[in-house]
Amino acid sequence: MRIDIVSVLPELMQSPFETSILKRAVDKGLVEVHFHHLREWGIGKHRQIDDEPYGGGAGMVMLIEPLDACLSELKSQRDYDEVIYLTPDGETLTQRIANTLSIQKNLIFLCGHYKGIDQRVRELHITKEISIGDFVLTGGELAACVLADSVIRLLPGVLNDEQSALTDSFQDGLLSPPIYTRPAEYKGLKVPEILLSGNSKKIEDWHYEEALRITREKRPDLLGE
Ligand code: ADE
Repeated sequence: MRIDIVSVLPELMQSPFETSILKRAVDKGLVEVHFHHLREWGIGKHRQIDDEPYGGGAGMVMLIEPLDACLSELKSQRDYDEVIYLTPDGETLTQRIANTLSIQKNLIFLCGHYKGIDQRVRELHITKEISIGDFVLTGGELAACVLADSVIRLLPGVLNDEQSALTDSFQDGLLSPPIYTRPAEYKGLKVPEILLSGNSKKIEDWHYEEALRITREKRPDLLGE
């Protein structure tokens, strides 16, 4: 997979891809992440990338020319499966969306800034708009990192234990059951007996029942309740 990230603040997104699992994915060649500083396509001597909104109002709007030039240049180099704009008014990110994106080959993430992008950029280039939740960040960069993380960890070979992505919360529509490790008892708090029993069928049933119980308790909406 290849992800191209267009931003006015690419430096905000370096460390997630230089650390731990995402770094390993990059080092193993399972994903290529390329940053593009929008300023390089800015207009004139000052490399302008934003201007005041028509009709007035607070905040600046990202100009169409630099965005169109940048996105057109990238799109002339290869076929992209999706050009994704990170924005609070997009579709809320879910595991289902991450799963769908994880089987694509080439993705562009566009990070919004200031008040957002000129509407016509959406019409010209954007194929998908994603929000990471009903709150507003200072820009799309951290949202792009969240989206990239959710997608990259699903690529075959990224996680050591292939099973572990399959048993994530949400992957089967349920939250994860409680998990425990040694010691079997701590300050009087005991690990459920069944997990020490060695009976894999009973353990599997317990995991399922607990996942159901926890989902009903914390997120009944996931069960349609
Ligand atoms: N940019 C600003 N807030 C955002 C959000 N919640 N999701 C995605 N992009 C954003």
